[in-house]
Amino acid sequence: METILHAINYLCIVQSYREFLELSVEWPQEGFEVIDDELHFHGINLIELAETYGTPLRVTYLPIIGKKIQQARLYFQEAFLRNDYRGKYHYAYCTKSSHFRHILEEVLKHDVHIETSSTYDMEIVEALEKRGLISKKNTMIICNGYKTPAYQRRIVDLLHDGFENLIPVLDTKREVNYYLSELEVPAKVGIRVAIEEKPDFPVYTSRLGIRADDVVDLYLDKIKSSSNLELVMLHFFISSGIRDTPYYWNELEKMIQLYVELKKEAPTLRYFNIGGGMPFRNSLDFEFDYQYVIGEIVRRLKVACQQHGVEEPDIVSEFGSYTVAESGAVIFKVVERKRQNDKESWLILDGSLMTILPDIWALGQRYIILPLNNWDAEYERVILGGITCDEQDYYYRDAHTNVLFLPKTRKETYIGFFHTGAYQESLSGVGGIHHCLIPTPRHILIRRERDGQAHVDILYEEQNSKQVLKILGYL
Ligand SMILES: Cc1ncc(COP(=O)(O)O)c(C=O)c1O
Repeated sequence: METILHAINYLCIVQSYREFLELSVEWPQEGFEVIDDELHFHGINLIELAETYGTPLRVTYLPIIGKKIQQARLYFQEAFLRNDYRGKYHYAYCTKSSHFRHILEEVLKHDVHIETSSTYDMEIVEALEKRGLISKKNTMIICNGYKTPAYQRRIVDLLHDGFENLIPVLDTKREVNYYLSELEVPAKVGIRVAIEEKPDFPVYTSRLGIRADDVVDLYLDKIKSSSNLELVMLHFFISSGIRDTPYYWNELEKMIQLYVELKKEAPTLRYFNIGGGMPFRNSLDFEFDYQYVIGEIVRRLKVACQQHGVEEPDIVSEFGSYTVAESGAVIFKVVERKRQNDKESWLILDGSLMTILPDIWALGQRYIILPLNNWDAEYERVILGGITCDEQDYYYRDAHTNVLFLPKTRKETYIGFFHTGAYQESLSGVGGIHHCLIPTPRHILIRRERDGQAHVDILYEEQNSKQVLKILGYL
């Protein structure tokens, strides 16, 4: 791809940024459209937003969340039909991808379950129940993560409080002892299996979960004879994501084999929890065959269950990024153009990539990047720079081209990073202190009313100097 783009670039076959983009990827694409030289995101004119609310600006477009959930359900439904699979599919949302109330409210409109990861999550569960958004009886609350004493205590409190479908997933062997000694009501439990990491990862086995060889013994020694605990779930999470790779299929097969082995000992077992890791569209030439990959997970489970004469489990997923990433965007304005040598043009943005989109710096995450205006200008290869002093505060490779081309113009230019809705706020923090004291940007929420009209709310304002100085002890 890079070579073709260089060829296009150097042969000057195309003149404008618009022509360049149309030649390099399929355009327009779902969610994006250019009308009168202005980029629209799901029908929202982004230049209008930027001019009304200022930049840098974090944007959440809520309606996309429901669409993603429905889509995943359809993929599973199709796969179940094709494989004559008798289990059910349960969609759970992994709260850590975005804990915000507006996100949970949107997700829960679609009748999903939730997965938690730490003590404070339990307060969120209670708040959601009080608002009538989840049900003590029906909503599955999958409690994952390392259980500190406080987290364990809150789990037990909620179980005593009648959250019948709350399922602590044992992350260490020791954890079960607490439930055995403290629980006075029946409870379902799960076991998380530690996966083997990808060959290029610096360590061999994940620190999360219980080693596969110990799982059956843990059940036989501690859970089987308990009058309160019922083992219902086997859980694993392949951290590098659900991918069509030999590594993924190999790890999945091991988990399926463990499931059927355990099922023979534990007849109450009924959920096969595949965790998160379903990819989101992070590039204009993103290709992932969801239907095939989901179909293959279902097919492999079906085959193994048939071979071993065990009932097919219900499948549970905990998709985080898949659910929320595509609802997010961040808009910056270009405040300066700098040419530091003969080849490289820097566009300096009015915010920091490192602090607003920390996965760029931490993981080398790539996003869809598009200009909001100037589509008819020429194009040039650029590097985007943030306003901290840090050399790492930059972005130079588009996901689909490996380099980054944007309009070449001296006119006012806005740039959007798209599908940024997962993890970025919790990693960078909302409020607090950021590198070089770059403030948390303003964040707006966009909903669609029943009549299709867009409704915009400010979730929070840009952090001000007083808030920052107070934390630093000056006020
Ligand atoms: C146990 C577990 N489930 C689900 C997820 C969600 O992963 P993703 O956002 O990739 O879907 C995570 C993320 O760290 C996780 O640790």
